[in-house]
Amino acid sequence: MQYDFSSTPSSDLFDKILLITFILGFIFILSTKIPLSAQPYKDPSFSLDDRIEDLISRMTLEEKVGQMTQLDITMVNNMGDQSDVSLDSEKARTLLQEHHIGSFLNGEAVPAQQWLEYITELQRIAVEETRLGIPIIYGIDHMHGASYLSRSTIFPHNINIGATFNTDNARQNGKITALEAGPLGHVWNFAPVLDLGRNPYWPRVYETYGEDPYLASELGVAYVNGLQAKYEQFPYQIAATGKHFLGYSVPRSGWDRTPVDLSMQTIHEFHKPSFQAALDAGMKTIMLNSGEVNGIPVHASKELLTDLLRKKMGFDGVILTDWADIQKLYDYHRTARDYDEATFQAIDAGVDMSMTPDSLNFNESLIKLVQNGNITENRINESVRRILKLKYELGLFEHPYPSGEGIENIGSSTHKAIALRSAQESMVLLKNKDNTLPLSKDIKNILVVGPSANSKRNLSGGWTLAWQGGSEEQYPESAKTITEAIQDQFPSSEVTSLDSMGEPGTRTRSDFDKAANEADVFIVAAGEEPYTEFVGNITDLELPKEQLDLIKTVNTFGKPTILVLIEGRPRVISEIVDDTDAIIWAGLPGFEGAKAIADVISGDVNPSGKLPFSYPQYVGYFVPYNHKPSASYHFDSEVANNIEQDDETIVEWEFGHGLSYTEFSYDNLTLSKAKISENESIEVQVTIKNTGRRTGTEAVLWFVSDEVGKISRPVKELIHFERVELKPGASRKVSLSIDPKEDLTYPDFDGNPVLEEGYFKIRVGDKVKRFYLDLAGKKQS
Ligand code: BGC
Repeated sequence: MQYDFSSTPSSDLFDKILLITFILGFIFILSTKIPLSAQPYKDPSFSLDDRIEDLISRMTLEEKVGQMTQLDITMVNNMGDQSDVSLDSEKARTLLQEHHIGSFLNGEAVPAQQWLEYITELQRIAVEETRLGIPIIYGIDHMHGASYLSRSTIFPHNINIGATFNTDNARQNGKITALEAGPLGHVWNFAPVLDLGRNPYWPRVYETYGEDPYLASELGVAYVNGLQAKYEQFPYQIAATGKHFLGYSVPRSGWDRTPVDLSMQTIHEFHKPSFQAALDAGMKTIMLNSGEVNGIPVHASKELLTDLLRKKMGFDGVILTDWADIQKLYDYHRTARDYDEATFQAIDAGVDMSMTPDSLNFNESLIKLVQNGNITENRINESVRRILKLKYELGLFEHPYPSGEGIENIGSSTHKAIALRSAQESMVLLKNKDNTLPLSKDIKNILVVGPSANSKRNLSGGWTLAWQGGSEEQYPESAKTITEAIQDQFPSSEVTSLDSMGEPGTRTRSDFDKAANEADVFIVAAGEEPYTEFVGNITDLELPKEQLDLIKTVNTFGKPTILVLIEGRPRVISEIVDDTDAIIWAGLPGFEGAKAIADVISGDVNPSGKLPFSYPQYVGYFVPYNHKPSASYHFDSEVANNIEQDDETIVEWEFGHGLSYTEFSYDNLTLSKAKISENESIEVQVTIKNTGRRTGTEAVLWFVSDEVGKISRPVKELIHFERVELKPGASRKVSLSIDPKEDLTYPDFDGNPVLEEGYFKIRVGDKVKRFYLDLAGKKQS
């Protein structure tokens, strides 16, 4: 039988089916083969620039502005609070399809699987259900390990990493954060903090690497390298964010987000270097300082964002606002009359993306500003170009979905061992009268007392599990309290603990007296409770009175007292220093911190940390170690002219102070030349010897001093550090090359390097030597 095409009534229908099949086939072929070359932005064989330009050419203004917007998790989750990591797909669809949002942020510590499902679905809607399929980029504050993830490895905070003077700890912190958060699609991490902890009142000191620009630069770069590296667990990369550009950390009042006055010279000399170093190392994004500097909110400062960051510092990555900071231009700083003007100010200054974060005000304003001709579409394109470049470079167009690989290693014993090492190396032994420490493991009765005796949350501070730190029950069992860790470390001792001594005459007070009478030694775990940002503002730097009273009372029992300071900034304790036998600064050492503290107390670990900040003696007087000569205010010419003492100032403990259970000597400081010219370098050497009876590690800190400068010079500046481990009796030569252009210049008011003829000093340990830089009459280079 044959089909009669012409005579059958169905012939028309058949033709139509054929035609439709043909068209569909054609469309199918188009959508599989041709589209790549017809849609260069999706085709990896095109150059990055071509892909970006192609995509931009297809985008509507609304789509572009959407890319410049970052919204909080509360805009897309079910319950509307930070801790709810569950997607309301309808909300997400509306925001992605109608408002084209390019980025989301935030959340709290939930299991990996939950993050995975949430990010995958959010990304799926962006990639598969929007017109152009541009992937979103998810931002989060994993500040010391993947701190918004259950069961993760929690490192010490940066201030402790600073105390280790070991770049590897910073690198590992970045690496393990990447390995634990990367597989979940957390591809944008809002770290490292590159601000300097130079005002001890500031509640964010613990997020910094301390007060020194060189230390912050070295550790910041190491962190960025660890975080942004390529890992086999995921085919994309993670972006680091240097924050908070610029000058955030030195508010006059000490309170968070309050005004800062800084000369441009101080910015160039102290606050810029850590950012510049991280940018030079390839750090991809910057978050801004919410405060004002010299009267202009940084979010509206063309001088800082465009002239300095873009033009002078050469940054072409993404500039992100901090939380609601465009809004703050009008309702906090009051430099703008309304949201539209605020948006104009920020975009005009150089902002690329707004962490809006919980409204669509930014989108509406920005669209209006372009439509009214206040902002050109070219200006919008500049920012969109950077944002798309970031997404392309991270690999999100090719690999938008979280890999989910390796999540079984979250919080693995290998990762925790590295966090533990960081915590151990960060313990700073401030005082050890008559070798009170280490404690013998035979000791019978130990009384652990103080607000941090039985607290896990105090050891990790803010930004842990939740913004202000989680509730005590949320902390994993594997994270010990100090009392538990001491019991583990002293298995044959009776360990008793009390959070406070209670009021005289009360039952708790008699419990305390009884325990104190029975104790052979006291460990007082004092300091601060977790806080984050403005919540940690204080009016008095002294350790709270009830804690000072507790230490004073303990000291009356005539038994050895070990004070362990758990704190995010140095709280003044001068009243009790003389009467307390041993003092350990433990900072915020994280989940492995209690073990690190117990290891140091028992002597299983010989302390090697050194203070990355100057520990103030008085609540109203604090100057960083690299202060100007006149800051120490001495008119004693004998001191001023004494080569070994001219950096003296009033502190409880100096930057770089930290004892060990062994001793180190510094000898034979030698210089290859006593005089150099601009193009020569000096080789410097010193011999470090372990003169005590235990193996120990010494962080060797090299400082340079420029004796005379037209712009007054800091009394000394750190130019190099390295850790040296030595067995008892062993010695090692440590050397350094001083290059005038690298190590002896300083910036003028425009940031240009100045090199001046004259004497310099090099200091290491207790040794100092002078040398002369001869510019043969040439004043500046
Ligand atoms: C903080 C930033 C943080 C951001 C997002 C802000 O309040 O200042 O450091 O990255 O919130 O959570």
